[in-house]
Amino acid sequence: MRAKVLSFVQMKGGAGKTTLCVNIASTLSDRSNVLMIDTDYPQSSLETWYQIRNEKYVIENMQVKTAKNLTQLQKLVRDNLDDYDYILIDGHPRITNITRAVLMLSDLALIPLSPSQVEVWSTKHLAEIVKEAKKANTHLETRLCWNRYRVRTNSAEAVVNEAKELLKIDALPVKLGNRVAYLDSFAQGLTVAEWHDQAAKVEIWSLTSGIERLLDKQGSHRIKTEAQVEKFAKGKN
Ligand SMILES: Nc1ncnc2c1ncn2[C@@H]1O[C@H](COP(=O)(O)OP(=O)(O)O)[C@@H](O)[C@H]1O
Ligand SMILES: [Mg+2]
Repeated sequence: MRAKVLSFVQMKGGAGKTTLCVNIASTLSDRSNVLMIDTDYPQSSLETWYQIRNEKYVIENMQVKTAKNLTQLQKLVRDNLDDYDYILIDGHPRITNITRAVLMLSDLALIPLSPSQVEVWSTKHLAEIVKEAKKANTHLETRLCWNRYRVRTNSAEAVVNEAKELLKIDALPVKLGNRVAYLDSFAQGLTVAEWHDQAAKVEIWSLTSGIERLLDKQGSHRIKTEAQVEKFAKGKN
């Protein structure tokens, strides 16, 4: 079976795309072979994380490659579809032809979001592109993924409700807390599963299981052709 393609998209930098990507990839790699594609060149924080990890530890079942442009992205996904169980694409912080192509190549696109009104409003444009992408890539699933969530605050709950109304994209049930474990483990080339914060471990594990179930339920679909991806990337449906 071909690799499942899971992507992290959000037009804002700092939303948690790379953090989610490495933590989910690492959990998946316990049982599966995972390729991550860094599209945020030249910032390349995913690639940097991997280099730090690689200098200190033996990495199994997990690789990182960089796509600097649309052609490289398409080639990397297509060339590796049969060699991995999962391909995770770490998006970059703008809506470009790459972001559009990522949506066309994905089975599931996750949109990390922290519970602030401003972030919800600024995600509206992305939600419109997602809607457009779903017409062209009909099996695409998308989910909001609440990050840096403050539990038991009325304001956070109000924002979640507003996002549901405004963006019309379902959210994953697991919300990630605002925890230094994400920051500190990343800096060491590690993940929260390898860190001393039990709550962070549990939430990443639950989040990843939910994602696996979603992808399993979806079954196997043919990936869009190069021409179809190219056309949508250039803004044509
Ligand atoms: N749930 C969280 N709790 C605390 N810090 C977080 C959390 N998620 C992300 N961060 C931190 O926020 C910063 C931006 O996250 P990052 O994943 O690099 O965002 P993006 O890839 O969307 O630009 C990083 O320093 C990261 O460690
Ligand atoms: Mg990033």
